[in-house]
Amino acid sequence: MQVEVINENPFIIVGERLQGSLKTYINELNPESVVIVCDDNTFKYCHSAYKTVFDSFERSQTLIVNSGDTSKNLENAVFIWEKLAANNASRKSLLIALGGGMICDLAAFAASVFMRGIPLVLMPTSILAMVDAAIGGKTGLNFNSIKNLLGTFRNPEAVFADLHFLSTLPFDEANSGKAEVLKHALLQGESKFEEFKSEFDKPLSVSATSASMRFKLSITQADFEEKGIREILNLGHTSAHAIESLYLYRNKTLLHGNAVAAGLWIESLISELFFDFPAEFNFVELRNFIGLKFSRLDFSESDIPFLLNAMSSDKKNKIGLRSFVLLNQDYSPKIGCHPSEELITTACLRYLQDA
Ligand SMILES: NC(=O)c1ccc[n+]([C@@H]2O[C@H](COP(=O)([O-])OP(=O)(O)OC[C@H]3O[C@@H](n4cnc5c(N)ncnc54)[C@H](O)[C@@H]3O)[C@@H](O)[C@H]2O)c1
Repeated sequence: MQVEVINENPFIIVGERLQGSLKTYINELNPESVVIVCDDNTFKYCHSAYKTVFDSFERSQTLIVNSGDTSKNLENAVFIWEKLAANNASRKSLLIALGGGMICDLAAFAASVFMRGIPLVLMPTSILAMVDAAIGGKTGLNFNSIKNLLGTFRNPEAVFADLHFLSTLPFDEANSGKAEVLKHALLQGESKFEEFKSEFDKPLSVSATSASMRFKLSITQADFEEKGIREILNLGHTSAHAIESLYLYRNKTLLHGNAVAAGLWIESLISELFFDFPAEFNFVELRNFIGLKFSRLDFSESDIPFLLNAMSSDKKNKIGLRSFVLLNQDYSPKIGCHPSEELITTACLRYLQDA
């Protein structure tokens, strides 16, 4: 069975059925107690495969929170801290996150704050969590109705990405999670994009997952606290966050990856207009692919002022400036681009017309 160790510190391993490696790793860590955090779905679908391993650790207990991004809140962080305190946890206690990006962010935040930081192991169970949330040391909670308003930078001790978990991931979650894999491919150039396209309909392989994780890791290791190059990972995200705000405002649900796919569509067009690409070169193939594989999002021309406004209040911006990562025609990303309102509007209108 293929297993790849992609990094030593933090230790990051990708493969299928990693029970033996996890047990060895945690026995060497020798924690005084172990708390596993999952949501109701990951408890139902993922926990049992590792139950024997979890039960073999000293003083281990499992905490379950409701699934869904609204659970990524301060109340659940307090719930975890209360359980740790009640269990006499020490700085040698270990927290294990078993879940998608929501659980990884919540548990990582809780671990980074409790006693100024206790050991943390992430076991991502969704594609998005494996290639994105579990890599790079960002933790986050939603607060005051704003996503990820609270957070810390804190790497886990280890990441165990068991692809076997993906067998129970709902199709829409898996499909939308691939939007972040697409973003990583685009940032590595045209040949990676071609490779990604040819493998899109197959189950994610160990090598494709680890390649995507490795790419994110290389960027986040170069700029852990996002003061420069890490910003390229926001490709597609200025538009995606604006569309997510619109859906939130309308009380409609939207998977993050589907928003990212639409964001990549819109921002590929903004790139062409902003850099004034020669007529024979464009990202039309990318847009066709996104149109074929990801849901078309539901907004109308009258929503564009809302989107423009949301783009200018994106928390990553300097006040008032709409900041984008755009792609040059050789796929090299350029951070800190400020396209005009007219240009962004044109791209949104073309999305509505062509996507
Ligand atoms: N920290 C970071 O750098 C970072 C990066 C990207 C995203 N995120 C965060 O990640 C979150 C999104 O992650 P997500 O898409 O994994 O969402 P999620 O954790 O909410 O999981 C999506 C759904 O799939 C279910 N699920 C997960 N794994 C499963 C499995 N193996 N089998 C069956 N069901 C399963 C979950 O219970 C949930 O219902 C957001 O909160 C986002 O802000 C963080």
